[in-house]
Amino acid sequence: TAGTLRDKAGKFRIGTAVATYPMVFDDQYRTILGNEFNQLTPENCMKFQFIQPARGVYDFYESDKLIDYAERNGMDVHGHTVAWNEATPQWLWDGWLDGTITATEVGKILDEHIERLFGRYKGRMVSFDLINEPFLDWTDQLRDSVWYQALGRGYIERALRKAHEVDPDVLLFINEWGCEEAGDKQDFLFNLVVELQTAGVPIHGIGLQMHEDMNAEYQASWRSNTPSVTKAHLKSAIARFKSLGIEVRVSELDINPHRSLATTPEAVAAWYATYLEACIEAGAHSFTMWGFTDRWSSLNEWYDYYNHGNGLIYDAQYQPKLSYQALSNKL
Ligand code: XIL
Repeated sequence: TAGTLRDKAGKFRIGTAVATYPMVFDDQYRTILGNEFNQLTPENCMKFQFIQPARGVYDFYESDKLIDYAERNGMDVHGHTVAWNEATPQWLWDGWLDGTITATEVGKILDEHIERLFGRYKGRMVSFDLINEPFLDWTDQLRDSVWYQALGRGYIERALRKAHEVDPDVLLFINEWGCEEAGDKQDFLFNLVVELQTAGVPIHGIGLQMHEDMNAEYQASWRSNTPSVTKAHLKSAIARFKSLGIEVRVSELDINPHRSLATTPEAVAAWYATYLEACIEAGAHSFTMWGFTDRWSSLNEWYDYYNHGNGLIYDAQYQPKLSYQALSNKL
């Protein structure tokens, strides 16, 4: 459709997280999704617990629908996710903790899950957040996931090698939050990528999540009415990881207003545009937002205290906001 985001984006990938329920049942959601974006990330349906709800029982119902939809609409699929501390099913945790699933079996479960998922969609996914949020907050230790408990640090290498073996064409990403600004956390991720590359492990990119708050309580200038990540931060983060020969994508952007600050729509729009501009100038792989409409936004469940769930580029009635226009102007 002439003038839409994807139309203006050309080869640049502009994406969104997709909730399968409205993709199937909400006509307006589905129409805007296909018209405006050329890349999609499954918001939840490809997470481990939904793909393998019981041991050895796989459920691809929703992810099949999502991939079919993407193909019908000429969109790239960016998969999400396998090895995370969240969205691991109860059966796996229970079995591991009560000893009925051994460490060796956890490794086999990881391998088999990847074989089934990557095998089923071989040739149909462009890229994938195989490893999600590996670091324990603000430390260089890895999160205490079932993967880490059972397999140690090697779970990352194991998962990456297996996925690459099953579908060598999929670009494999580590997706993490809080690495947009220079500092310890960015260094930890950088060092991990170097460690993997040195060992010859296939790692093709990193995702910078960018769930941004206009309030940032931890900011030096409280009530500054800006998010903490600046254009310079983002551009240098992209350049730094690209210097390793890997791709960098903004993977989960949303910009959350703050009700007590009465954040203006103009201010939010300006930040959307700034981040997109940084991605284009620095040669990012893609620019993905964590949803596009406040009608179906994970912010409703997460950050209601701060922002009533209105951090995306369409409102709950599917009207494009100034943020939409600001992105369009930059493309
Ligand atoms: C979130 C989804 O948006 C929610 O619907 C779900 O309840 C929890 O997960 N980082 C990630 C995403 O990598 O998978 C998370 O998605 C948001 C934070």
